[in-house]
Amino acid sequence: MFGKVTTSVVLVLVLVGLVGASPTGAPITACEDLLPRHGSNASAVNEPFNLFVQSAGDNMLNVTIAPQDPAVLFKGFLVRATVDNLDQGYFDLSLTPQYKGYNCDSTHTASTHTENGLKSSVTVFWAVSQPGEITFEATVVIEKVRYVVDLINVYTA
Ligand SMILES: *[C@@H]1O[C@H](CO)[C@@H](O)[C@H](O)[C@H]1NC(C)=O
Ligand SMILES: *[C@@H]1O[C@H](CO)[C@@H](O)[C@H](O)[C@H]1NC(C)=O
Repeated sequence: MFGKVTTSVVLVLVLVGLVGASPTGAPITACEDLLPRHGSNASAVNEPFNLFVQSAGDNMLNVTIAPQDPAVLFKGFLVRATVDNLDQGYFDLSLTPQYKGYNCDSTHTASTHTENGLKSSVTVFWAVSQPGEITFEATVVIEKVRYVVDLINVYTA
């Protein structure tokens, strides 16, 4: 499970100087680039993950993050959505109290973990409040110094 991961790495400069593990979720500065602030030793890796988006009925979308290799476990995530490129709409966390809403420009337009236990997948629900093109983007933290960026899925509601 660890052998095939190769560091691809970018972004290290951006991370220099920023510190702090985030056991209880992404820090508030993460909205712009969705990067975890885990210090200069942290790097983006190529572990493949899927970001699934599908209707869950009642104007809700099931947004699921899962590794392609079911043996891979991960600790944290940050998923953000925009509707027609604007920061609007919200994740409804009432069905998933183990995760929390996270405010980018508006309330709960993103969601993150509340503890860093190992996870095999994560599902949160997006409330569809208007037609439009909803762009979901996510970052997954496998462990403090290894994370996966740029998961994306565009859903037309
Ligand atoms: C990075 O890793 C090195 C070697 O393990 C360690 O000495 C250093 O303290 C680490 N730096 C940070 C910012 O965690
Ligand atoms: C959400 O979608 C995932 C991935 O397709 C699926 O495995 C899961 O059962 C769905 N969960 C709910 C509550 O609809």
